[in-house]
Amino acid sequence: MSDDSLAIRILTIDDLPAFADVLARAFNLDVTDALTRRDELVFEPERWHGVFDGDELVGTGGLLTRRITVPGGGQTPIAAVTAVGVAPGHRRRGVLTRIMRAQLHGLHEQAREPVTALWASESVIYPRFGYGLGAQFYRSKIKARAAFRPGVELASERVREVGLDQAVPLIKAIYEKEAPQRAGALDRPDAAWEFLFDDPEYRRRDFTALKFAVLPDAYAMFRVKSDWNEEGPCGTLRVVELVATTPQAYATLYRYLLDYDLTITVETNAALDEPLIHILEDPRKMSRPAGDSLWVRLVDVDRALAARRYNAPVDLVFGVRDAFCPWNAGNWRLVTDADGNAEVKRVEDPPDLELDVTDLGAIYLGGTRPSTLAAAGRIKERTAGAVSRATAAFAGDREPSCLESF
Ligand SMILES: CC(C)(COP(=O)(O)OP(=O)(O)OC[C@H]1O[C@@H](n2cnc3c(N)ncnc32)[C@H](O)[C@@H]1OP(=O)(O)O)[C@@H](O)C(=O)NCCC(=O)NCCS
Repeated sequence: MSDDSLAIRILTIDDLPAFADVLARAFNLDVTDALTRRDELVFEPERWHGVFDGDELVGTGGLLTRRITVPGGGQTPIAAVTAVGVAPGHRRRGVLTRIMRAQLHGLHEQAREPVTALWASESVIYPRFGYGLGAQFYRSKIKARAAFRPGVELASERVREVGLDQAVPLIKAIYEKEAPQRAGALDRPDAAWEFLFDDPEYRRRDFTALKFAVLPDAYAMFRVKSDWNEEGPCGTLRVVELVATTPQAYATLYRYLLDYDLTITVETNAALDEPLIHILEDPRKMSRPAGDSLWVRLVDVDRALAARRYNAPVDLVFGVRDAFCPWNAGNWRLVTDADGNAEVKRVEDPPDLELDVTDLGAIYLGGTRPSTLAAAGRIKERTAGAVSRATAAFAGDREPSCLESF
């Protein structure tokens, strides 16, 4: 849709008050100093767009300069899309479409990050712009005091609760060790850490301020909500982030949180392969409704596919459709070597598989299998066995997981 009264430009730091106002209204919040300060923390000059109707800022979208762990190990640059909002009264006029075009076409023209990713407020918004469902997670609830299986090894150290200053260096060291091991995890520059630890009242939603429980090899950031009913205490403990680098530390930290007094439920955003379910004596004490986490978009199919490693040797031609970024449309040959490194070239050969760029985004982190998308009728197999070979090649050792919503 075209609307000639709209214009897009890069935002500067002077636009931040208007930016915070639009974003707050877009998310049905009152604009506050705390909210504006959070925008300031992560604002990147040259990378945030605003759409104006005359002089009025009506839509926003930002890119964060980050790195993401890809299957096979290693981190690759990613533009993390954030702060997308259009003011009520200006929706369905193509404002978001302009922002998406400016971001994706700009990244392509400048040969910047080959991949973008985002968390979506609503899952129907982004596929039209080429985003595929690249990673999911469980919004788990576990019954407090749920028993562990016999023989679960615990750490010899005691869990300690510490203040922010003591927790920060330990948390950073543990996260930086773990993030490169897990596809979907982002690196954290200083601004991202500040954003994570920033804890204004409006983020707590009836829960306490952030608490920190640590072991030498693990940490949990969490909050607790106090509540009572006719049967007594019925509080909830909500894990914001838990990272452990040994199985013993992982089990010990969960044991500590599950035994938290005056609570009856522990809530946690779990990876699809979260080990906890295999530690519980009764796995049904953990409910696991799934949600979508990262939506992934390949900006440049060739650069993006070459930026990850592959789990099995493969030589396949992908016939790609991409209406929003037409430079990706066509046939691409992916050839991997014995170490899993890939070479990707445009070819005239007929495709072994036909798919949309959203499907490539979905399979990129190893979270959605090509065989699943073929069964869904989305990937079409033109050469017998091609789906199975692609499925083996794109698989990762672990499910992709992104702990951080941005
Ligand atoms: C989601 C949002 C950014 C969309 O902005 P917008 O400027 O209205 O989007 P556009 O006009 O460019 O819409 C492009 C297309 O997507 C569709 N679309 C946009 N938002 C949609 C939604 N929430 N649900 C279904 N379809 C949607 C439009 O109908 C349009 O389809 P068409 O091309 O077939 O006509 C805006 O509604 C908003 O700010 N919502 C609240 C905050 C939010 O959710 N932000 C996203 C954070 S991840």
